Amino acid sequence: MSLIIALNKGRILDEVLPLLAAAGIEPEEDPRASRRLIFPTSQPEVRLIVVRSGDVPTCVEHGAAAMGVTGKDTLLEHGEGGFYEPLDLGIARCRLMTAGPVEPRPWLGARLRVATKFVNVARRFYAGRGQQVDLIKLGGAMELAPLIGLADQIVDIVDTGRTLAANGLEPKEPIADISSRVVVNKAAMKRQAGLILPILDALERAVQARAEKEVRA
Ligand code: PRP
Repeated sequence: MSLIIALNKGRILDEVLPLLAAAGIEPEEDPRASRRLIFPTSQPEVRLIVVRSGDVPTCVEHGAAAMGVTGKDTLLEHGEGGFYEPLDLGIARCRLMTAGPVEPRPWLGARLRVATKFVNVARRFYAGRGQQVDLIKLGGAMELAPLIGLADQIVDIVDTGRTLAANGLEPKEPIADISSRVVVNKAAMKRQAGLILPILDALERAVQARAEKEVRA
């Protein structure tokens, strides 16, 4: 029985491929240098697919992929009940934050306008503080929104903070610490335990080995 692991494009892919390799799973071709979407690996029963972040939980929840790796931000936005989340890989660490102009416009008593692609996360965060906001869904480049009068604040990923600073914005409040997580389809965890559990064990060992190397460095 074969198994598909769904991976996230971008920075997570760069950081997860070495962990997978350390766990004995190496794609036959570099997914970052190919237009293919499915990649056979050094383990004949394991294939990788590379999709957009939000599609990882969708593929895993529906069982199209037995396993996946994506950011906690994506999982928080998608909703977390539809799969298991057994392992924190500790890679692609960053923070989900609110952010806004260093010098905000004067408060006019209107509702705060918040631009984000994390509308569910943002709705929960502001609702938790009893604050009603108008949410504006964007696909990316959230930092632009306050600059062009589209929003007062944004909810976005902050890593180095350089993108905010380059646009006259500053982080305001932390929402969640983010890192990449392994998710597993619930039915597959039972049906394919013989394949999935050794992969989880090997990944966990790879994460520990990397952490020990970092401590020694
Ligand atoms: C992310 C995020 C910020 C930036 C933060 O964008 O949306 O724009 O990184 O990183 P920094 O704090 O180190 O500047 P990314 O480049 O991943 O692209 P995206 O807008 O498509 O999410």
